[in-house]
Amino acid sequence: CASYFQKGKLTGKHVVITAGPTQEAIDPVRYISNHSSGKMGYAIAQAAIDQGAKVTLISGPTNLPVPERVERINVKSAEQMLEASLQLISSTDIFIASAAVADYRPSEIAEHKIKKVDGEDQMIIKLVKNPDIVATVAQHPERPFTVGFAAETRDVANYANAKLTRKQLDMIVANDVSNTQIGFNSDDNAATVFWPNGSQDLPLMSKAQMAQDILLCVHTRWVEKES
Ligand code: CTP
Ligand code: CA
Repeated sequence: CASYFQKGKLTGKHVVITAGPTQEAIDPVRYISNHSSGKMGYAIAQAAIDQGAKVTLISGPTNLPVPERVERINVKSAEQMLEASLQLISSTDIFIASAAVADYRPSEIAEHKIKKVDGEDQMIIKLVKNPDIVATVAQHPERPFTVGFAAETRDVANYANAKLTRKQLDMIVANDVSNTQIGFNSDDNAATVFWPNGSQDLPLMSKAQMAQDILLCVHTRWVEKES
């Protein structure tokens, strides 16, 4: 990947980024979710704005402010995130899936608050698999340049490369989340970027710096692919 940006390299390009967790409703007052802060996706949105791109953030619930000039589409569930992603696909040049999508959702949403039942010490919620958003985008006839993330606790390179191939992505950013110092709510991150015939290590740095380095990598590979 290149090591610096000529200013405005993404001028006129539309970058769409999914970020944050998804929330999968159980009933009107409860949901299943995860610990994603959304910081990495929002940092990439800012870095893309800095390079002149038009940026849309499709975001699950987070506590983060919307970066200036970014259009944010708020969603909750994986199904809503997929729908928003597909709605934009024909105008998307680069799709970056940083969201921590819930892999499963309750098979049905109870219409009313579920009540405790006397004498029943267990409760079972049936879950069904959510659609794979980044794979659906990557396999769409109008596919943009598609980038995924992979959070792994072991065998990072193998699992990340398997996801790259299985989902037919152009690039994947792999995090080792076994190191609890970094990832999730941290302001720092370390990662390795993989593409079909190469990789690059991104050592521990701020998420803002990492966002720039990831975008540089994306831009380099994208230009190569287009040419
Ligand atoms: N992803 C997605 N839709 C899903 C699940 C994941 O778009 N339903 C995306 C994530 O945003 C990320 C990439 O796929 O860019 C990898 O997510 P990850 O959870 O690491 O992979 P999974 O395919 O869900 O596999 P697993 O959780 O079993 O490791
Ligand atoms: Ca997953």
